[in-house]
Amino acid sequence: MGDDLEERAKRAVGRKAVEEFVRPATCIGLGSGTTAFYAIERAGELVREGMELRAVATSGETARLCREYGIPLAEFGDAEIDVAIDGADEVAPDWSLVKGGGGALFREKAVALAARCFIVIVTERKVVEWLGAFPLPVEVVPFSLRYVKREIEALGAAVRVRERGGAAYVTDNGNGLLDCRFGTIHAPADLDAALHGLHGVVTSGLFIGLTSKVLVAKSDGTIAELARSAGL
Ligand code: 5RP
Repeated sequence: MGDDLEERAKRAVGRKAVEEFVRPATCIGLGSGTTAFYAIERAGELVREGMELRAVATSGETARLCREYGIPLAEFGDAEIDVAIDGADEVAPDWSLVKGGGGALFREKAVALAARCFIVIVTERKVVEWLGAFPLPVEVVPFSLRYVKREIEALGAAVRVRERGGAAYVTDNGNGLLDCRFGTIHAPADLDAALHGLHGVVTSGLFIGLTSKVLVAKSDGTIAELARSAGL
């Protein structure tokens, strides 16, 4: 898909998710990133058209966009989240995900875990046979960043400390991020457990068993639901 087509596909799938899954008088979780942006934009239109909605934002940037689009915000934990809508960096056949390319993995996972229903919106290029081509983000408390980097390297990954503007990247939660290349991830649940076993890891970008539905925007302009299979 060319860049223009890719952008149109993101827009189509973001809007479609809101139109299909957002109902009046509900609280929605709104994701982060360039695909989720279009869901936020559509939710803002619904609010302007008079629909009563509240949103829990998965990042500071999403909260800023909600304010810009007039979507009332709820604090995480104060309201039941009826449906959460978010993008992903990779989607496997069993609907496990890699997320966190935009650095919002902790809040995105918190919202996905809490939501009654978690809708993933992607373009075709995010659908993979195996997770792992995209470097796996791992959020780590700053004190432990170097230690956890070495521990993850010992698990077999090539690890980089994420940077922005020449300094270590700082998440909305005040933590650091490690981008970890494990190669093909054959057993995501085992890897996630191993990562969470390292003292200092806050969370990983592996989202396993959280997805309720995956909407995929295809290059021919259509949107399809991804059928779930156990994987290869
Ligand atoms: C941010 C995320 C995003 O959902 C993911 O990176 C996909 O973003 P985009 O839609 O811009 O490709 O996990 O932390």
